[in-house]
Amino acid sequence: MIIKNKIRWTLPKGKNASELDRKIMAIQEKGHLVPTRSLIKTKAQIEGIRESGKINTGVLDFVAEHIKAGITTADIDKMVYAYTTDHDAIPAPLNYEGFPKSVCTSINEEVCHGIPGTDIVLEEGDIVNVDVSTIYKGYYSDASRMFIIGKTSPEKEKLVRVAKECLDLGAAAAHPFGFVGDIAEAITTHAHQNGYQVVRDFCGHGVGLEFHEEPEVCHYGKAGTGMLLVPGMVFTIEPMINMGTWEIFIDEETGWTAVTEDELPSAQWEHTFLMTDNGLEILTH
Ligand code: MF3
Ligand code: CO
Repeated sequence: MIIKNKIRWTLPKGKNASELDRKIMAIQEKGHLVPTRSLIKTKAQIEGIRESGKINTGVLDFVAEHIKAGITTADIDKMVYAYTTDHDAIPAPLNYEGFPKSVCTSINEEVCHGIPGTDIVLEEGDIVNVDVSTIYKGYYSDASRMFIIGKTSPEKEKLVRVAKECLDLGAAAAHPFGFVGDIAEAITTHAHQNGYQVVRDFCGHGVGLEFHEEPEVCHYGKAGTGMLLVPGMVFTIEPMINMGTWEIFIDEETGWTAVTEDELPSAQWEHTFLMTDNGLEILTH
């Protein structure tokens, strides 16, 4: 069944349709969800997001140099705040919808949105996601990496590796004038092939002028569904891959931290991407 979406792509007042306009409007006519024109970033906006992404990468590199067994996740929070503000930028999570810290740190069975704490000590064998988001001159970027503390089990090591492969395969499946669902199918297929499941409660998202914009980039789903991908769109891909069930619950104590329902480990990697005429470019390398 094709559900007619509202008209989203319209011509600028008094202008004739360009080749791009005609192409997008034809796809819209078929009932696909297309972006609004405002989701196509200008050159200046892309440069701003790129600068923000460079600082964001610097933050993660700084964390990578210092993360080790025995430090607390509050120590990571301090590093992120110090590095970010030293570079004239703002940590986007701080006070975002009441989030109390500058970074999300999610350990083992924690899926995402872990809150750093002075009582949370990293231990040998932990797998930790550090999710960093930066605002620079008003432009947002967002990326996360997994860190293995010392040596971990082969099972957790494989989960971390496959989760990264899911991000890379998802990104490789995104083509200009393809759909968000193409990314989801690539990720879902690879996760299932490895006996893992894909979290459904959290998605990637448009990013750049705000922290979370359209489109919603779901990691679970079918090719050819979701929003049309047009050059100039900027969004994250951030699959959360679970060793067991995809189901999660939100820790009541914090109201933030998502934890796997079966308390088996979860892993996540994230980049901010620009859709170009030739596929995705990473803005958070
Ligand atoms: N990359 C995460 C996201 O897009 C960052 C969340 S920060 C938080 O949801 F403040 F919302 F926790
Ligand atoms: Co994100």
